[in-house]
Amino acid sequence: MAKSKTQFTCTACGNVTTKWAGRCEACGEWNSIVEEAPLSSGPSAATLGTTRGRRIELTDLRTEETPPPRTVSGVAELDRVLGGGLVPASAILVGGDPGIGKSTLLLQAAARFARMGLKTIYVSGEEASAQVRMRAQRLGLTQSPVQLAAETNLRDILTTLDEERPQLAIIDSIQTMWSDSIGSAPGSVSQVRAAAHELTAFAKRKGMAVILVGHVTKEGQIAGPRVVEHMVDTVLYFEGERGHQFRVLRAVKNRFGPADEIGVFEMTGKGLAEVTNPSALFLSDRGQPTPGSVVFAGIEGTRPVLIELQALVAPSPHSQPRRTVVGWDGGRLAMILAVLEARCGIPFAGLDVYLNVAGGMKISEPAADLAVAAALLSAREDAALPADTVVFGEISLSGALRAVGQTENRLKEAQKLGFSSAIAPKGGKSLTVDGIKLNRITDLASFVGETFGA
Ligand code: TYD
Ligand code: MG
Repeated sequence: MAKSKTQFTCTACGNVTTKWAGRCEACGEWNSIVEEAPLSSGPSAATLGTTRGRRIELTDLRTEETPPPRTVSGVAELDRVLGGGLVPASAILVGGDPGIGKSTLLLQAAARFARMGLKTIYVSGEEASAQVRMRAQRLGLTQSPVQLAAETNLRDILTTLDEERPQLAIIDSIQTMWSDSIGSAPGSVSQVRAAAHELTAFAKRKGMAVILVGHVTKEGQIAGPRVVEHMVDTVLYFEGERGHQFRVLRAVKNRFGPADEIGVFEMTGKGLAEVTNPSALFLSDRGQPTPGSVVFAGIEGTRPVLIELQALVAPSPHSQPRRTVVGWDGGRLAMILAVLEARCGIPFAGLDVYLNVAGGMKISEPAADLAVAAALLSAREDAALPADTVVFGEISLSGALRAVGQTENRLKEAQKLGFSSAIAPKGGKSLTVDGIKLNRITDLASFVGETFGA
């Protein structure tokens, strides 16, 4: 009996089934399942090659085989996120919202790498070469030895790459690429997957680095399948708020370096400029101490960053008071409100609560808990914290404060930016940083008592 030819793939998680369903059983997403031509099922036993898969004992790997040299772009913010430069034969995915600045970033990166001696080709599937050249002109990059191609047919692109043998190829974007061996439309899951697979396989085979650009859907996923994320070595997200002038390039996966690393850029009329001191950017003008405003000493990747948190607490006209968070996790805010109420006896019932991370930055570190609590209390009591103080620490459900990593780096950054005192959890080793008066506390209730005299 002939096997069924079609399969169904979830566009959200990439799960494959034989039957269509309204809801994906793997990830629970509604209306995400589409019909697809199946991938090749692999070689059958009869067609298996006679040469066996090459294998090597772990102990046979000689230690003097140093990793291949990385190429730096000279843009420190980009090189750090890549883990110290571009690795040959690696595949990188750069995801981000449409219009956030991916093409600008990568055209600038292409020019930098080309000037560093890498043979670089920039393939645009969205703009004509003339448009890319106009953009390059605006960015002042016309003198860079980058080759441009405007192409969407995968076969043509691979032919070009095979002839030109670049060391770096940038594909902008993976959703516009299509393979004529697959029946579905460009941008569909199977097209995106096939294009990503062919390009990364080609890159590995020929020792070329490839950067794929991917648009992100409003749900925050690379449009089409997440499977692209599994195919590449490095996944970077380019993010930022539209109204703000700065952008963050964040490593969420990196086989060749630390994940969670960020690079900060500022948008200008002449393209993206790197921001080497992001703390200065995330702190709004700090003159007078303001109720509700607290400076959090955070760590992003390997780097300390000071970020201002702002809270507003006001009597609510609604029966269900508002809880609005920008740049932080709403669930975590609910938890801190609950701990403040249960462990410190400070209710927020009947009050609207707004929390905002200044500058449009996103924070995910639990170390921000104490700074959030401080901002909420400061807003509620209408009492400002001293303007020269930074705050950090994780809050547990019991109301105890937990020590967090890299205390010394946080304090040093605070000292560098002119702060003179810090509130942090007790625990961990004792340390002093010149110029910083460190106040270490054990639990949230004593923090409330000491700071707000409640
Ligand atoms: P673009 O790079 O085209 O975004 P994406 O490729 O992610 O869709 O940038 C969007 C627009 O913003 C474009 O019109 C150029 C403009 N822009 C600047 O003027 N300066 C900048 O520094 C950046 C990043 C973008
Ligand atoms: Mg673009």
